[in-house]
Amino acid sequence: MADLCISKGHEVYGMVRRTSTSNDINFKHLLDKPKFHLVYGDSLDGFSIDTLVRNINPDYFVNFAAQSFVGCSWDIPEETFLAGAVGVLKCLEAIRKNSPNCRFYNAGSSEQFGDVVYCPQDEKHPFRPRSPYGAAKVAAQALVKVYRESYNLYAIQGMLFNHESERRGEEFVTRKITKGIGRIVRALQRSESFEPIKLGNLDAKRDWSHSQDFVEGVWRMLNQEKYREEVKIPKLWPKSLREYVLSSNETHTVREFIDIALKEAAIEGQWSGTGVDEKFISNGSVIVSVDPKFFRPAEVDILLGDSSLIRKELGWKPNISFENLVKRMVKNDLPHAKEAQGQE
Ligand code: GDD
Repeated sequence: MADLCISKGHEVYGMVRRTSTSNDINFKHLLDKPKFHLVYGDSLDGFSIDTLVRNINPDYFVNFAAQSFVGCSWDIPEETFLAGAVGVLKCLEAIRKNSPNCRFYNAGSSEQFGDVVYCPQDEKHPFRPRSPYGAAKVAAQALVKVYRESYNLYAIQGMLFNHESERRGEEFVTRKITKGIGRIVRALQRSESFEPIKLGNLDAKRDWSHSQDFVEGVWRMLNQEKYREEVKIPKLWPKSLREYVLSSNETHTVREFIDIALKEAAIEGQWSGTGVDEKFISNGSVIVSVDPKFFRPAEVDILLGDSSLIRKELGWKPNISFENLVKRMVKNDLPHAKEAQGQE
């Protein structure tokens, strides 16, 4: 998002929480850009948000702060809910008091649909969350609506299906697979032994896209009057503002992701067994196995989005296909790619 805003000529203030070890790998390349500033804050510290909004008086406020790992949200439900919902309230309050013309975007999720009742899921699908994370995002969406309608704020929350990239965190299934393949390819090249990639539910279906496509969708949601006639007059807010689904409109199992990824890494083999005994075997070695420790207390079995509304109304469309997403992530994690980047 910061890359996109800077490419559009905007000044970006990135809020970071203080940590004892640096966690700047995904924005290191921006640190020497004159239009990029890092500021300390925490969306759960109302004072810090209030001061930042008052001092910066931003045109846009994009809130991606969250405990965003669904799998962990049962272990730390309170933190997940505080960051996902109460933090949003603090942002909305700070905007209402200090900068009411600032446009606010909050990251919503297809996890809000949860235990889905029809496919594909569009903006009208009911919210039936299956995790503390999903419940927090539903609460946040209600708060955003209340503030939009009560105070006439340009405040919206998009419902984004899974979005990945070469910068994805390593505990999420896509990066776990591609990093694991990189590790195994390195071991094979050195004739060393290796542990398989241990995963949970291989049958889960997700609607995966590349984050680069989605940030453009977020940008369009924040600037609806450029694309939609009926939003031209701010007086008509908040009624005319819409909250959209972003999705590829395709669904794939975790197993399909693995198949494409292994093919890209030229690892040939076959699946055998079922359930917890399912394995992918190549030349007698186990590459992928199932470990029940990665099963969730409640699973969202299938997510499949319908993003036709934003395609029609704001002219958005994704450019990177599922297959290209997988290939890009694998290429990035193969050892020669890292060595070329001097990261090994
Ligand atoms: N993380 C993980 N690890 N997931 C696994 C594993 C594993 O070893 N094995 C199978 N899975 C399955 C999960 O059970 C889930 O069904 C699916 O892979 C995707 O899991 P994640 O990559 O962790 O993502 P997510 O779908 O739970 O949530 C992501 O997408 C949401 C939008 O739908 C996150 O980015 C959320 O923050 C986001 O809101």
